[in-house]
Amino acid sequence: SLSSIEQTSNSSFIKKLKSTGRSLVVFYGSQTGTAEEFAGRIAKEGARYKMKGMVADPEECDMADLVEMKEIQKSLAIFCIATYGEGDPTDNAMDFYEWLQNGDADLEGLNYAVFGLGNKTYEHYNEIAIYIDQRLEELGATRVHEIGLGDDDANIEDDFVSWKEKLWESVCAHYGIEETGEESNIRQYKLVDCSDVLPERIFSGEISRLKSYENQRFPFDVKNPYLSKILVNRELHKSGDRSCMHIEFDIDGSKMRYDTGDHVAVYPKNSSELVDKIGKLLNADLDTVFSLLNTDEESSKKHPFPCPCTYRTALTYYLDITSNPRTHIMKELIEYASDPKDQEKLKLMASSTPEGKKEFHEWILRDNRNIVHILEDLPSVKPDLDHLCELLPRLQCRYYSISSSPKVYPKSIHITAVLVDYVTPTNRINKGVATNLLAQLKPTIDELPQPTIPIYIRRSQFRLPPKSQTPIIMIGPGTGLAPFRGFIQERDYARKEGREIGEMVLYFGCRKKDEDFIYENELQEYVANGTLTKLHLAFSRDQPEKQYVTHLLEQNADELWNIIGGKNGHLYVCGDARSMAKDVHSIIVKVVMEKGQMTNSQALNYVKKMEQQKRYSADVWS
Ligand code: FAD
Ligand code: 2AM
Repeated sequence: SLSSIEQTSNSSFIKKLKSTGRSLVVFYGSQTGTAEEFAGRIAKEGARYKMKGMVADPEECDMADLVEMKEIQKSLAIFCIATYGEGDPTDNAMDFYEWLQNGDADLEGLNYAVFGLGNKTYEHYNEIAIYIDQRLEELGATRVHEIGLGDDDANIEDDFVSWKEKLWESVCAHYGIEETGEESNIRQYKLVDCSDVLPERIFSGEISRLKSYENQRFPFDVKNPYLSKILVNRELHKSGDRSCMHIEFDIDGSKMRYDTGDHVAVYPKNSSELVDKIGKLLNADLDTVFSLLNTDEESSKKHPFPCPCTYRTALTYYLDITSNPRTHIMKELIEYASDPKDQEKLKLMASSTPEGKKEFHEWILRDNRNIVHILEDLPSVKPDLDHLCELLPRLQCRYYSISSSPKVYPKSIHITAVLVDYVTPTNRINKGVATNLLAQLKPTIDELPQPTIPIYIRRSQFRLPPKSQTPIIMIGPGTGLAPFRGFIQERDYARKEGREIGEMVLYFGCRKKDEDFIYENELQEYVANGTLTKLHLAFSRDQPEKQYVTHLLEQNADELWNIIGGKNGHLYVCGDARSMAKDVHSIIVKVVMEKGQMTNSQALNYVKKMEQQKRYSADVWS
């Protein structure tokens, strides 16, 4: 195919470095684009040190060529590597990771540095980056600067900027070079006028193939989502001012299949209110058709998002306009500020001085400003809209744990989603992009066309035991209940078919019994019919003292150990409560220690083994 021809011609990053006189290559292991963005920023900054740089996707490169890096004078390879889920590499870094694990290349003469992107709320914090950093050294490469660990739960931008400052100091010392002081504010993409482009060539929100929503083609995946009808959208909370939606997506006729425990990805769009605001603030005609073309002809990425399209389409479907922008955006905005006061403020926030970091932290992160708020509050800042589109990160799809079983619902996918909206410190109402869109998508009365949304199914590792007789413990407060609703449906189905099913113990927690006890009736029915062996409930705000699922686990050590140790059962944790999964982990270690009569390190090993045997699985998000 054409793409494989392109790949082979692109695959030698060494050739490309040599033919374009570059000595710096920055690889990224990226799922959501942050690592890719960081890689781009490093590559660009190389110019300040006479190191012409380029970014490279390890998936598109023959990474064995790393052994040839030594042929390029004063060369450097940098790796910006994200760790996902249960300590997994990103899809695009998978092959490279396996190559490092299994191979024994001689990497002597390769100079490198690693920056990791992780999240401390997850147990396997930055594991992939740490491994790569160590493994490259084992294979003989020279670490030019120590690994940086970014924590997305705190302030990853700050971690990155601080690391990057020190990185360049190490690079200068290592190669005996000096900063040239040349600031490179060169744009990566150039604006191409597209006013003559035929309407049928213009993207209108598709993720990759033009008109893919009008003529849908199997198979459906991340690049080719399925436009699904919303069959059901109902409120699960009984009272209170928060909202939790039970939504059913139609997959009948799509040939899509899912397993209990999988995730469904939803492609959201930004609210037209926010998009219009940007148009107004920048005096731009949002219906202008444009394209952004990479100025680096060697790059395999021609456009930052599907082009040509209108500004309205780009801001609605392709760009993230609601997250807190990073410091490099502050820096790029400076030149557009006509008021010196606004200019000073942006300069300060873009600088890596302690005062600058403090200002960025307070004004952007703490006060929770997005790009719209920034343009509103710094009224003299009027960036060119095409430049802004180049700078903003891509809008990401949102994942939801599927809360149904395909045994019971082969033609639909259920999700359980909490509506996100909150007031920021500057008294603005921020609305979660995906959940507020979903909230509007209510099935209409018969004849009218039903609302739709693009989705695809992402396989997960979160699986019921292979045998239906194996006992399981499920811990899922709040929306953490979602995948367990699927688990319970699946086993209830098996039981009704006459198969023997193992014990099912569920720990559920919420704020108040009469408010957010979701799926209460269903759960009580499963208890009554015997599918659910035990239902342990923790209502955190029904009494003065907080009552959490973790408190109940501590009280039920015997029951836990009986299932885990006595019956070789499986344990599952799911939810969005920040510290919940970690708290559960330490309680389980304690239970194993006490009831299994082990030392702390024996118990830790025991739990580690459970994880390896898939007897202990977590599906958590923050
Ligand atoms: P966004 O526009 O993305 O806004 C959310 C962001 O706003 C947060 O990340 C936070 O930075 C900020 N924020 C939110 N509340 C506040 C506040 N009070 N104060 C300050 N800042 C705040 N969600 C479910 O509801 N059910 C599920 O089953 C589920 N399963 C998931 C499974 C996986 C594997 C993952 C990764 C996530 C899952 N999520 C689930 C979360 C879901 O993907 C979305 O993140 C969530 O629905 C919010 O999306 P949104 O676009 O509406 O909000
Ligand atoms: P709270 O909001 O009253 O603190 C679902 O979100 C439920 O999980 C809520 O009742 C919430 O209680 C609770 N929760 C919050 N943090 C938790 C933790 N660390 N462990 C267990 N449950 C937690």
